Amino acid sequence: MSAPAPYRVLFVCLGNICRSPAAEIIFNAVAAKNGLAGLVKADSCGTASYHTGSKPDHRMLAALERAGYSYGGHRARTFRRADFSDFDLIIPQDEYNERDILALARNEADAAKVRGMWQWFGAEETESSVPDPYYGGPAGFDAVVALLTRSMEKLMESTKDEIRRTKC
Ligand code: 4NP
Repeated sequence: MSAPAPYRVLFVCLGNICRSPAAEIIFNAVAAKNGLAGLVKADSCGTASYHTGSKPDHRMLAALERAGYSYGGHRARTFRRADFSDFDLIIPQDEYNERDILALARNEADAAKVRGMWQWFGAEETESSVPDPYYGGPAGFDAVVALLTRSMEKLMESTKDEIRRTKC
């Protein structure tokens, strides 16, 4: 008997070198902590292609390391229409990423897979999306890692029944 297909989650930002690779790394860590490692598969990409083939930004890798996460070797790639077929859930980090992805949706089913990261922000958050840390200092990278960690716990909590239902 073959193993069940994993529940596939795609994180999207602009360049795929700061926020979305961080989200992918944090998602994998939180999934493992929740005993879901074999049932999910995460990836990340950007809406722009400037950084295709690059490793995550060294400042983001440093912030992830400070928070206890480790980099698994991701290289930047650009969002493609086929991602709508290849993933169950597509998570833009801000409203610009959301707009750019929705503009590529082929139908309602594609569009229904797109849910902004902020949908899992707790009431205590003051941000309305994941802020772009690229032009700021290290504190901005640490803040993104902390925000993603808090919201990823909520994402996992609200999605784990769906993951177990569809994949077990
Ligand atoms: P990301 O951050 O979208 O979180 O990967 C950025 C990366 C690169 C640029 C902007 C934001 N850029 O302008 O090159």
